[in-house]
Amino acid sequence: MKNIVLTGFMGTGKTSVAKQLSNMLGMKVVDMDTEIEKTQGMSINEVFGKHGEHYFRDAETEMAQTVSTMEHVIISTGGGVVLRPENIEYLRKNGVVICLMASPETILKRTSSSDERPLLKVDDPLGKITEMLEMRKPFYNNADLMIDTEEKSPRQVAEEIIEDLKWKK
Ligand code: S3P
Repeated sequence: MKNIVLTGFMGTGKTSVAKQLSNMLGMKVVDMDTEIEKTQGMSINEVFGKHGEHYFRDAETEMAQTVSTMEHVIISTGGGVVLRPENIEYLRKNGVVICLMASPETILKRTSSSDERPLLKVDDPLGKITEMLEMRKPFYNNADLMIDTEEKSPRQVAEEIIEDLKWKK
């Protein structure tokens, strides 16, 4: 089976769905942000704080290239990986790209309990989410499969993905 590459905005459930898929399919999860944290020796928050977004995006592109050489894994990406077309080109070489979607309100609900998203540390996170989603829409739409996660558990989303992948074979 090809790699399963999960894309989508922050809070669309990539990490939890990746874990579910891993249990159901017996495939290992590679989380790009976790791998970047390991190679940089600091948290994503610290990378943004110390070096800025451009530096993070370069590290992300390097990581997209590295993980794209792996086989039979579930790759959970950071929400901005779609912004550079070359990242998706790398990830698609060995994988099927699946984009998870949710409304701005749901994304706000799912992300508000955590302090780990530097881009959402603003006075009006809902406005920022809405604006970023609109700007990124064409990039997210470029996936092989789009899955709505609204009011679904990670398990339900994982089941839907497995079902859809059967038809894509
Ligand atoms: C980002 C999403 C984050 C992380 C970084 C930037 C983005 O990952 O890569 O904070 O630009 O959307 P998650 O989508 O896992 O939160």
